[in-house]
Amino acid sequence: MAKTIQAALLGAGTVGGGVYRLLERRKGEMPDKIGAELVISKVLVRDATKPRAGIPAEKLTERFEDILNDPDISIVIELMGGIDPAKQYIEAALAAGKHVVTANKDLLAEHGFALARTAAERGLDLRFEASVAGGIPILTPLMTCLEGNDITEVMGIVNGTTNFILTGMANEGMDFADALKMAQELGYAEADPTADVEGLDAARKVAILASLAFHSKVTFSDVPVEGITKIRAKDISYAKEMGYVIKLIGIARNTDGEIEVGVSPMMLPKAHPLASVNGSFNAVFVHGDALDDAMFQGRGAGELPTASAVLGDLIAVCRDMLANCSGRIRMNPYKGLPLQARGNAAHRFFLRLKVEDRPGILASVAGVLGNNGVGISQVIQKQRTEEVAEIVVITDRVATRHMEDALAIFRSMSVIRSISSVLRVYSGQ
Ligand code: NAP
Ligand code: HSE
Repeated sequence: MAKTIQAALLGAGTVGGGVYRLLERRKGEMPDKIGAELVISKVLVRDATKPRAGIPAEKLTERFEDILNDPDISIVIELMGGIDPAKQYIEAALAAGKHVVTANKDLLAEHGFALARTAAERGLDLRFEASVAGGIPILTPLMTCLEGNDITEVMGIVNGTTNFILTGMANEGMDFADALKMAQELGYAEADPTADVEGLDAARKVAILASLAFHSKVTFSDVPVEGITKIRAKDISYAKEMGYVIKLIGIARNTDGEIEVGVSPMMLPKAHPLASVNGSFNAVFVHGDALDDAMFQGRGAGELPTASAVLGDLIAVCRDMLANCSGRIRMNPYKGLPLQARGNAAHRFFLRLKVEDRPGILASVAGVLGNNGVGISQVIQKQRTEEVAEIVVITDRVATRHMEDALAIFRSMSVIRSISSVLRVYSGQ
């Protein structure tokens, strides 16, 4: 009879429930896939009286100790989210000699290296594929198949909720709030969707991607972040008119030995492959010195796509256990590259300004930009109403600090009624 490997779930929400049901679907194949039966024997939840579709009530517990102290459970799958108590539970599981699979980017973007070191010291697996870009295999490829490269850029759409919202607003004229509500109903959004719409979730994923791609420690607080809450229908329609699409983009680049990271809405030319990644789909571009460009695309959120990544990790842990080779693959910051000063990151910018409609104003705007070393690539003036005109400018590529200096001067000019939008425009590396 095949050996049985027992795992426990911490959390039975969107992802945890999905993992349980997906393993039920696949369980008959496990002896062939891994050489053992694989069962989830306990499931930790906050409220064990609540029915959970497909999960027998006798497996539910509200006490983590029931799992920690069960010597038959060798793998803990953490799908609760947040830092506390997830961190304590994972540390306790590792201390008890249990392997860990998690989808928790909040935790990994802060404490990933420390947890990875603990796991490696104990010869245990800590796998976290689902923490970035949901069902898309991207972290394991970075830690295995792409290890022969010097990776210089990782860039992409890494949040399904915001991509779903921006796609709904651009293609179906949806209202922001309605699109967010729908993303929540579909299970894409975080427990607190502020993390999605303010770009925090994407910033956590960028920290994890940068850490793995550049073998250097990058944490959540290192990532400058801007969300999508300030994007207006007008920005979307200007973008359309000018041949662009607005996406929330995460960037991690190694520029001359310094790491640039950031998350912000960005105008992408319509022909750019990321411009047609819509709905809850995510996509990540990787550039390596040997590989050149590769793009990984797929569902970035939701029950089964995320469960697919978690179950893949779980199967990999079982295989390592049975081959006695656990703890082989880990985050290792051996390069220790420094972060680039924030103001040095170079981009093109889209500016939408409301100005007094008087002769010479356009010249003053151009003058301020020019005096701060900001070249102009495109200008449109529109929407003249009584005394106010709207000026839209796309700049040449310039260091962010120069753009910020120009914006500070605009803010002090009485003829500029408002800076309605400042967006980055894609300009390559
Ligand atoms: P969720 O639907 O809110 O589910 C969370 C589950 O954890 C619930 O079953 C909850 O129990 C349980 N839980 C939370 N705190 C607990 C505690 N202190 N003690 C015991 N149980 C606790 O969340 P989710 O969307 O499945 O996300 C889970 C994790 O996966 C998060 O780290 C998230 O960032 C990550 N993730 C999510 C997606 C996605 O598409 N949703 C994609 C990739 C990664 P109750 O049910 O009793 O409240
Ligand atoms: N809330 C996240 C998203 C879940 O929308 O992408 C996947 O990590």
